[in-house]
Parts: sequence; C-alpha cells; structure tokens
Amino acid sequence: ILKSVILIGGPSKGTRFRPLSLDIPKPLFPVAGLPVIQHHIEACSKVDNLSEILIIGSYLASDLSQFIQEMISIYKITIRYLQEFTPLGTAGGLYHFRDQIRSGGPTYFFVMNGDVCADFSLQEIVEYHKEKQALLTIMATEATRQQSLNFGCMVLDKEGKVAHYVEKPSTFVSTLINCGIYLASLDIFQTMADAFYAGQSQENFIQFNGNSKDPAHISLEQDILMRLAGTGRLFALPILKWWSQVKTAGSAIYANRHYLNLYKAKHPDRLASAVHGSCQIIGDIYIHPSATVHETAVLGPNVSIGPNAVIARGVRIRESIILANAHIQAHSIVLHSIVGKSSYVGEWARIEGTPCDPNPDKPFAKMENLPLFNTNGKLNPSITILGTSVRLAAEKIVLNSIVLPHKELTRNFKNEIIL
Ligand code: GDD
Ligand code: GTP
Repeated sequence: ILKSVILIGGPSKGTRFRPLSLDIPKPLFPVAGLPVIQHHIEACSKVDNLSEILIIGSYLASDLSQFIQEMISIYKITIRYLQEFTPLGTAGGLYHFRDQIRSGGPTYFFVMNGDVCADFSLQEIVEYHKEKQALLTIMATEATRQQSLNFGCMVLDKEGKVAHYVEKPSTFVSTLINCGIYLASLDIFQTMADAFYAGQSQENFIQFNGNSKDPAHISLEQDILMRLAGTGRLFALPILKWWSQVKTAGSAIYANRHYLNLYKAKHPDRLASAVHGSCQIIGDIYIHPSATVHETAVLGPNVSIGPNAVIARGVRIRESIILANAHIQAHSIVLHSIVGKSSYVGEWARIEGTPCDPNPDKPFAKMENLPLFNTNGKLNPSITILGTSVRLAAEKIVLNSIVLPHKELTRNFKNEIIL
C-alpha cells in the first residue's frame, strides 16, 4: 500500500499571500473552485492502493477539521491532520510523525508540498520509483537558467540518479528543478534519523538559543536531499506537464486558469456551460451551484465564482476569482483580480489588475512571485485584490491595488496598498 503526506506549513508561512490568507489558511484558498490542497487529495485518490493521506502543518486543527471531513466524504479515503507544535521544517514533521506514517506498513509514501499545483502524474512516479528501486524519487521539471536559482536544482546521470543537488543555489547549477513532490521508501527514516542526531549536537543547541529554530527542525532539501545526492539512491523523474507554485495571489490566478483547463479533459462537469447557465460564457469558467449570475453578465475566460456570490446584470469578469458571498453590482467590470469573501462592488465600478504570468516567449518560464514592493519601495504591478468584506462605491476604479479587509472605498485608487 501507499500513503501520502501533504506539507502545508502554518500561519507564519504564506506571507506573500496576504491579505487573502488572513482569514483562510492558504492551503484552503479556492483555485478553480476547490481548495488548493483538494487538488492534491484528488490526485492521490486516483493512485492505486493509496490508503491514507496525512496532512502535516502547524495550523490549528480546528482550522482544517471541517475541510477534512468534507474530503473524507467526497473521496472515501482516510485523511488525518497531524499538527506540529512548532514549524519543524519540511522533513522535521515527517520524522516527528514517522510512526503514524509507518503504521499499516506502506511500501512507499508521497510527500507533497501543499503550495504547488500541477497536472500531477503520481502513478507515473510510482512506476518509475519501483523500477529504479529508489530510496527517494523527486518529481522534476525545467526552469529558465535565471529562475532556476529560486528552486532546488539538480544534475542527473543518464540513469536518472541525482548526482548533485543544491537548494536555491546562488550561482547557476542546472535548469532541472525540484517540483516539491516526492515518493519515498520507508528507509528514508534512517537518513532522517542521521540528520536528526546530527542536528542534536551540542553546537546546534547553542545556535538554537540564538536563533529560534527548534532542535528537531529538519530540512528535507538541505539535510536529506543534499546528503543523498551522489549516493545512487536518490532519483528524479523529469515531468514536463504543467507545474507551478502558489506563492502570491497572482499565482492563484495563473493556477486557476490551468486547473480550469485540466477540467476540460478530466472533469467537464465542473465547467459552466452556456446551456446550463444562462449568462454568456467565454472559455473555461467555474460557477459554484449556489451562486447567482444574471443572464446578461459576460464571464471569461478563466473565472471562478464562489458559493452564494451574486453577479448582477451587465457585469463583465475575466481572469479573476470571486470568493464566497461577494456581490458584484450591475455593469461593473473585474479583470485580473481577486474579490474577497463578502465584498461588495457597487454599480459601474472597475476593478483591474496587471497579469503576472510567466514570460510566454521563454520556454519553461515560471511565475516570478515578486514581493509586494520593489527595491525602490514602490508597489510591484500586481493583480488587484479586495480583502474580505471590502465595500467599493459605485462608479469607482481600483487599479493594481491591494485592499485589506473591511475597507470602505469611496474614491479611485491606483497602485496603492489600502491599509
Ligand atoms: N508541516 C510543515 N512544517 N510544512 C512546512 C514547513 C514546516 O516547518 N516549512 C515549509 N513547509 C511546507 C510549505 O507549506 C510548503 O508547502 C512546502 O513545505 C515547501 O515550503 P518552503 O519551505 O517555502 O520551500 P519553497 O517552496 O521555497 O521551496 C521548496 O519547493 C520548491 C518547489 O515548489 C523546495 O523544495 C525547492 O527545492 C522546490 O524547488
Ligand atoms: P484586450 O485586453 O486586448 O483583450 O482588449 P479588450 O477589448 O478585451 O479590453 P478589456 O481588457 O479592457 O476588456 C475586456 C472585456 O470587458 C471586453 O469584452 C470589453 O467589452 C469589456 N469591458 C471593458 N470595459 C468595460 C466596462 O467598463 N464595463 C463593462 N460592463 N464591460 C467592459
């Protein structure tokens, strides 16, 4: 049998995702109508003999319990949340909860970063891992030379063994990068034990007092992958289908587009069709069954509308995510934006952001995931985000701005963070 572990970090992570992560944990943010990690769970549910999914993070269990109950009832698979008392790093949690992972005797287990999205090819990884008799297999992809520095980089030999692995190198190593999806055999816990005891050494305890890292902290990348590179037991499988990280809100719009596109082949029932709804639909659209969309509205391409949202007459929405209970009043337009839960957009208003897609002229270019401000202290152009319960007055324009929750906007805004 197999298991799967999804690493979701905790409230202190996902800062670039604010203000959207202020009231919903980033792993539960809806992309193409489903929480980010529901896409992971769905991919796991299709793997042969996968018996259990463990979600490891430092969010409060109560933040996830309802979601997990829903997932269990949809996918009929055991799913449990294991809460770290403090962030233990990408392998510290795996090691801490090793008995839970080993119980039931799985042969292999997946480790999935919760903040990636992809056309996951999990079954392919299983077949490859078995064939190579690997200790750990990394799902890999290509990046541009310059962008590779933001990822784990590796060099493979001709059999697929990882000869070198460097996490976020400062100078160029390779364009082959780590996707944050792994399949491990149980012996990996021995490698983790070695890293754990190395981390328990006196020297590290002294450091621990100075910087706030827990002594049980283990980094999968630094302490495990770098250690295993060149031993002949670490493999990588390059997969060139769509893959991306979800770090910034802009990357959620990008992921939304790709997951909607995947529905065409895998879940056409999830896409709104012009026949089913009465509004005008362009390209791929997800509309939650409880949302109300006026027949004169024009949606698409690449729009997701959340539960109980209301889209009034003559509204135009494109490349955007509208969250639960939001109201978009008549004749307003929303482009490249995320409209937060329970927000209210008055009539004839305009909400517009700047797309931050990967450079289409460069093969294998990834999202840039820019920080909010550039080095001159200016706001980087971004999608527009209205936080939860924002009210925008009629006929106003909000351009390239980020609006924190509960704001009342009664004038126009351009390139601002509205605190
Ligand atoms: N449970 C738990 N505890 N999860 C964690 C912790 C922790 O202490 N720290 C990070 N995570 C989770 C994050 O929520 C995320 O899903 C994943 O582990 C990786 O997080 P980061 O530490 O932010 O790494 P990264 O995304 O910058 O880089 C990693 O992923 C890249 C691919 O997306 C590395 O593995 C890179 O090598 C890789 O290219
Ligand atoms: P490209 O960006 O080059 O694709 O041109 P575009 O003509 O599609 O322009 P734009 O991105 O500004 O508009 C996207 C869609 O929204 C078009 O179908 C427009 O007709 C429509 N649109 C533009 N401005 C408004 C507006 O203020 N109100 C409404 N209701 N629709 C608008």
